[in-house]
Amino acid sequence: MHDHAGRPLVVGTGIAGLYVALRCRELGLRPTLITKSRLEESNTRYAQGGIASAVGPDDSPTLHLADTLRAGAGLVDRAAAKALTYEAPARIADLVRYGVPFDTIEGQVSLGREAAHSRSRILHAGGDATGASIEETLKRRVLDAGIEVRERTVLRGLRSTGREGMVALISNDRGRNVEETEAGPVVLATGGAASLYRQSTNPSVATGEGLAIAFRVGALLTDMEFIQFHPTVFWREGAPRYLITEAIRGEGAVLRNEAGERFLVGHHRDAELAPRDIVSRAVDREIHRSGHPCVYLDATAIPRDRIFARFPSVCRFLATYGLDPSRDWIPVTPAAHYMIGGVTTDLEGRTSLPGLYACGEVASTGVHGANRLASNSLLEGLVFGERVARELVNPVASSLPPPGRLVRFDWPPGAGRGDLPRAFDRVRDLLWDNVGIVRTGAGLRTALEELAELGRSTEPSRASELPGPVANAILTASLVSRAALTRTESRGAHYRSDFPLRRPTWRLHVGILRKPSAGRRR
Ligand code: SIN
Repeated sequence: MHDHAGRPLVVGTGIAGLYVALRCRELGLRPTLITKSRLEESNTRYAQGGIASAVGPDDSPTLHLADTLRAGAGLVDRAAAKALTYEAPARIADLVRYGVPFDTIEGQVSLGREAAHSRSRILHAGGDATGASIEETLKRRVLDAGIEVRERTVLRGLRSTGREGMVALISNDRGRNVEETEAGPVVLATGGAASLYRQSTNPSVATGEGLAIAFRVGALLTDMEFIQFHPTVFWREGAPRYLITEAIRGEGAVLRNEAGERFLVGHHRDAELAPRDIVSRAVDREIHRSGHPCVYLDATAIPRDRIFARFPSVCRFLATYGLDPSRDWIPVTPAAHYMIGGVTTDLEGRTSLPGLYACGEVASTGVHGANRLASNSLLEGLVFGERVARELVNPVASSLPPPGRLVRFDWPPGAGRGDLPRAFDRVRDLLWDNVGIVRTGAGLRTALEELAELGRSTEPSRASELPGPVANAILTASLVSRAALTRTESRGAHYRSDFPLRRPTWRLHVGILRKPSAGRRR
């Protein structure tokens, strides 16, 4: 092993980044962990749903695998999903070892139900505060282990050195004091990009910069068209979009329109517990049909003490709007929630470039196919985080299979001042209006043209300057739009009203790679 191989740089401090850093340390490596914000700020912290694992007496990894395959609409990589579901119980045992206080009833772990799961298999810690509890526990462990942590430190770019690995260009969060790391392994655990949508469940840090940086250095990305929308996010004019966890539907809450009708009954055999893409589209359709800005989650049939015990954070949030879920219907609307695609990796987290690894939401292992099963995402961070850590200690040779369809994308479209006021807002509007729950070719082309226009103003004019967060957000948004334009069918989370059917010839992954052009330096 090259000396620097023992000192990986881990970027991002959600569940994947914290876990991979911890496991690297336990396996004898000396990782450095960087985060553009504070150590505990990440999507993981806001996860309410929990973490799926077949640990119940009536359950098995085989059943968990079957549910994952079914939800993924024909695109799940079976080997990846098998790793995910069969290794889940061991990773949960690791979390217990680290001290995550999973909820129990009479000494037995308490297991919740969520959409498209055939068994109750969702573990929670602190009810709907699961993500925060895991994040806090792992953060404490990282600090106790003496891992070097650099907060407010931003990955600005990567340079490939071939066999030596990656040189990372990092700066402080004001973009100043750029420094170059020594060449070695870089693990991207930078999370997703759903906060690039006007309506989103994600914190503002989830802007997909890791995706743009990986693309710029020449890594292959796949499945970028698959953005998962969550069907139940709190709606009130002027209020923040706050996730109302699917687990409440698992406990028996139902969706109603303004007239009180359960519009999912008769639409899908599992009604409110149908896969998330189906429920999101049904809610979106109902909102457009009725002209009413939201639908309602009716949890009034759940006993009051149960709902307050199981969902304390949601109940506290609703109370600030004068709502009591045991009495009042909750106004909800869909919002962008999760990036299914990302930087293409094999089962060991290796990307198409030597020395570059990815795990968690930024990675595309194929484990979710075209539609992620609820509560498989925290699990993905753990299972593939473990695999990356082991790979860094004991590399095994393998190569990525080529995607079924490869798009060569030309970027940047020009150069400008490197900044543009309100560009983030424009990206969020463009994605929500044109690359959202229901897409059309015309809307996707509009998005691409306007994003290229924004790119022309925000890409730095000098090759020696590094693209900033706005330029990277525009690039990530363009990659999502380009992949969505390529897929001329509807499958899972990707729905095109001009191609409303699933087509067998599209049972393949769309890969996207930077078009080589002469003289490029970034
Ligand atoms: C939720 O709590 O509804 C979200 C869970 C998830 O996205 O897996």
